Amino acid sequence: MPGVVALTGATGFIGGALCRPLIRAGWQVRALVRRSSGAILPAQIECIPGDLDNAAALGRLVAEADAVIHCAGVVRGRCAAHFERVNVGGCKRLLQASRAASPRARFLFMSSLAAREPTLSWYAASKRHAEEAVQREQTLAATVFRPTAIYGPGDRELRPLLRLLRYGLLPIAGSPEARLTLLHVHDLVAAVLRWLDVSPPLAGTFELHDGRTGGYTWQSIAAIAGRAYGRPVRALPMPQAGLSLASSVNLWLATWLRYQPMLTPGKLRELRHPDWMCDNGALAGALGWQPKIDFERALREGLIE
Ligand SMILES: NC(=O)c1ccc[n+]([C@@H]2O[C@H](COP(=O)([O-])OP(=O)(O)OC[C@H]3O[C@@H](n4cnc5c(N)ncnc54)[C@H](OP(=O)(O)O)[C@@H]3O)[C@@H](O)[C@H]2O)c1
Repeated sequence: MPGVVALTGATGFIGGALCRPLIRAGWQVRALVRRSSGAILPAQIECIPGDLDNAAALGRLVAEADAVIHCAGVVRGRCAAHFERVNVGGCKRLLQASRAASPRARFLFMSSLAAREPTLSWYAASKRHAEEAVQREQTLAATVFRPTAIYGPGDRELRPLLRLLRYGLLPIAGSPEARLTLLHVHDLVAAVLRWLDVSPPLAGTFELHDGRTGGYTWQSIAAIAGRAYGRPVRALPMPQAGLSLASSVNLWLATWLRYQPMLTPGKLRELRHPDWMCDNGALAGALGWQPKIDFERALREGLIE
């Protein structure tokens, strides 16, 4: 029977996509919401003001929860300490609060496939370090989801690139032959709903992607978009030296102007990584979950925005 689910990151892309499906499935959703957030959540959600630094707010969030889903995190930043404080410190504090207030709860950490390559970036290292804290958990039934790049309605990071496809352009930062994987947010939501229902609760670390055999290359993404939009889409390799310079300048400017940059040398190393293939086998076996939306279907059916 659905009960109370405590959710972080409900004002973001992935947490936001979870809200209504959780309510529809009968869960009573309690969400951590920062005072600075302008997002409006569905009226059925109980909002707990606070952030991941606030142990008292985390205690209120997880009190007597049946499940805790941790989607809050940062994907941009100008120093390692920022990623470690929010992504690692925040995850550890949430684990501690859950252990103290709801030791029988199941706990899901939304990590990232990037955690597989922690030397690439501060972000990837922080996701790996947070995973390690979750994997050490002894009291809660703790699960790590390692999704690949996620897209769909509400996404802000991949949207500019996906919009360019409509105009017949696909700028690429790495090798055109690099292998990558994708996951539509609706399929991720379906996996989370199955994770909530499965008995006994699932423990372990699981990769997720859309199940397309062999994944994608940038060339294949351009070809798929060309078919879906009925016009040629050109994959344009970006000048490598120019990109490296732009990422270093952006990081330097961010340090002086105090903004959180997306394009940094670390992000560029992630984008240039030649192998982001992954495997759904373990999660499919454990949950009976199968993704339904590949990139071609998403484009053809307008499931992007
Ligand atoms: N998007 C992807 O392609 C992707 C792929 C793999 C893994 N992931 C992981 O999935 C998680 C969610 O990603 P997303 O795309 O939904 O990110 P997002 O849209 O940037 O949302 C981030 C969420 O975290 C919250 N947050 C950030 N710092 C916080 C803090 N100190 N205290 C409390 N809340 C805080 C934000 O709240 P505000 O609204 O107040 O800013 C927002 O709700 C991240 O941990 C990311 O690593 C994402």
